Amino acid sequence: MKDKLIIFDTTLRDGEQSPGASMTRDEKVRIAKALERLKVDIIEAGFPAASVGDFEAVQAVANVVKDSTICGLARALDKDIDRAGEALKGANSFRIHTFIATSPIHMKMKLNMEPEQVVEYAVRAVKRARQYTDNVEFSPEDAGRSDEDFLCRILEAVIDAGATTVNIPDTVGYSVPQEFGATISNLMQRIPNADKAVFSVHCHNDLGLAVANSLSAIINGARQVECTINGLGERAGNASLEEIVMAVRTRHDVFDCQTTLDTREILTCSKLVSSITGFPVQPNKAIVGANAFAHEAGIHQDGVLKNPETYEIMKAEHVGWSANKMVLGKHSGRNAFKSRMVTLGHAFKSEQELNDVFFRFKQLADKKHEIVDEDLQALISEASFDAEEEQIKLIALKVCSETGEVPNSTVTLRINNDEVTGSSTGSGAVDASLKAIESLVKSDATLELYSVNSISNGTDAQGEVTVRLEKAGRIVNGQGADTDIVIASAKAYIHAVSKLKAVDFRQHPQQGNV
Ligand code: KIV
Ligand code: ZN
Repeated sequence: MKDKLIIFDTTLRDGEQSPGASMTRDEKVRIAKALERLKVDIIEAGFPAASVGDFEAVQAVANVVKDSTICGLARALDKDIDRAGEALKGANSFRIHTFIATSPIHMKMKLNMEPEQVVEYAVRAVKRARQYTDNVEFSPEDAGRSDEDFLCRILEAVIDAGATTVNIPDTVGYSVPQEFGATISNLMQRIPNADKAVFSVHCHNDLGLAVANSLSAIINGARQVECTINGLGERAGNASLEEIVMAVRTRHDVFDCQTTLDTREILTCSKLVSSITGFPVQPNKAIVGANAFAHEAGIHQDGVLKNPETYEIMKAEHVGWSANKMVLGKHSGRNAFKSRMVTLGHAFKSEQELNDVFFRFKQLADKKHEIVDEDLQALISEASFDAEEEQIKLIALKVCSETGEVPNSTVTLRINNDEVTGSSTGSGAVDASLKAIESLVKSDATLELYSVNSISNGTDAQGEVTVRLEKAGRIVNGQGADTDIVIASAKAYIHAVSKLKAVDFRQHPQQGNV
């Protein structure tokens, strides 16, 4: 029997620290439910002390997810730990993850503390967290650049204080695989009470080595790995969940541990995270990129036809590629529609909601022949957005675009029950429409990103537009989908503006004093 490798997903916490990847509470809940279907062991849902919005998101995830353990991050401060304990108390099973920096540069420049004090803070924090739960994780931040003797000292102390998991972060992505693996092995051998805790790793991808470092750590004894969907995360990101999980599964001859994930859910999670954050997945990305299982060269195609194993080391359906090909259309009935939505993890709260989304589905099916899962995910996004953010609604849009003429657009919105109409010219149909909307909503925000992706194939496909707006340090993403990309763009802009009005400012966890 192989050891279990615990998968700790931090898409909702470290992933959200990617500049521009902020998510609302409801978006976090949707991703958390998808992670639960993927059978992720632990979901780090956020950093409750960072803001009211983060607290509420962690609380909401803790209240709805039943099968995964929910974790909240806390600096080694009483107030952070109390806030995490409060946010998590509704969960079936929860963990508090507390951290403090241990590298010489962080202790001196960021914390302005002596190593002795850092150990005291760490021990105190773990003891405080144990008052809420017996599932406590401790991380020595920037362990990749910390002194090994000091790591041994602080980790022994926190395990004595009750930490059940000790996580070794390569916070700045500085380590290389052989060295990082050796660190894990040394720590596990040198720390006298190492057998009382699970050793975990958390690798960043600044040198493109996050997955390689994580795998090296697993070979050397780590039994928890912290990772994110699509490798989302601070700067160059975190280790990618799908790559680690599939490496351990595919190379079971190398790894003496295994995960209990339902890997067929990987693709759905990847697409959901990409659509909510507006971070596209590059086509050649391992496992979840559009070309990951495509064979272009004739010689490869020929080989695959004779025997797939000539060029395929994994089966596409094991990560959800063909399971994702279920198609609905305008003749599909309510039951087929409902059952597909439930399979995608969307539980209708009422008959009214089912009727509403089914109506939107029929409208889309009139415009588009085949409705695939990504279309349904976009419908769910749109319906949940409308339910939350009723104050601005697109009523009508008329755009005129003709060769040799300046495009112009006239838009009617309902803003807090008043119908208003505005017009603008622009360099193209999208530009004119977004300017017309801006003349009505007056957000004064800066457009940081505008991107269009085709949800499926064909010219009748829905375009999914992401608009990222920034105002006074707040960054929000808005999404819109439609078979007409001008309308999709208008919906995305309105979504972003509505979020900007509602969102609460988030602080970066590593920016605090401790
Ligand atoms: O990268 C890091 O060090 C972290 C810690 C909070 C675990 O994200
Ligand atoms: Zn991190």
